[in-house]
Amino acid sequence: MNTTPANIDQILAGFDETWAPRIVATMNDYAVKIARLDGEYVWHAHHDTDEVFLVLSGTVDIALRTADTESSVRLQPNEVFVVPRGVEHRPSASTAVVLLIEPLSTLSTGDFAGEVPKHITSTTGLET
Ligand code: NI
Repeated sequence: MNTTPANIDQILAGFDETWAPRIVATMNDYAVKIARLDGEYVWHAHHDTDEVFLVLSGTVDIALRTADTESSVRLQPNEVFVVPRGVEHRPSASTAVVLLIEPLSTLSTGDFAGEVPKHITSTTGLET
């Protein structure tokens, strides 16, 4: 049994890349990830799962759209928001840190089919 807690400050000290989530813990077949956010992400959806966002620092805007609605939510530290499965979303931030909870196989860029910009890593979660 692992008796070492994952220390988010220590993990954050170990990487600088934005939009490159690190897996800090797993439970059942879910991953808990942290990511640094800066700038704008790409529009994408996860067709098989909801996605939990908990903002640890900074402010995160998430633009949301479905076939007939478009909206956005602004998240401050300690706020939790769930993007429902199938809803297109595009997070943006100016220097923020988020904790994400989603199934282990969830690709960060979801169904995005274009060329992934250089400041984004398309991943199911990197090692710490
Ligand atoms: Ni997403």
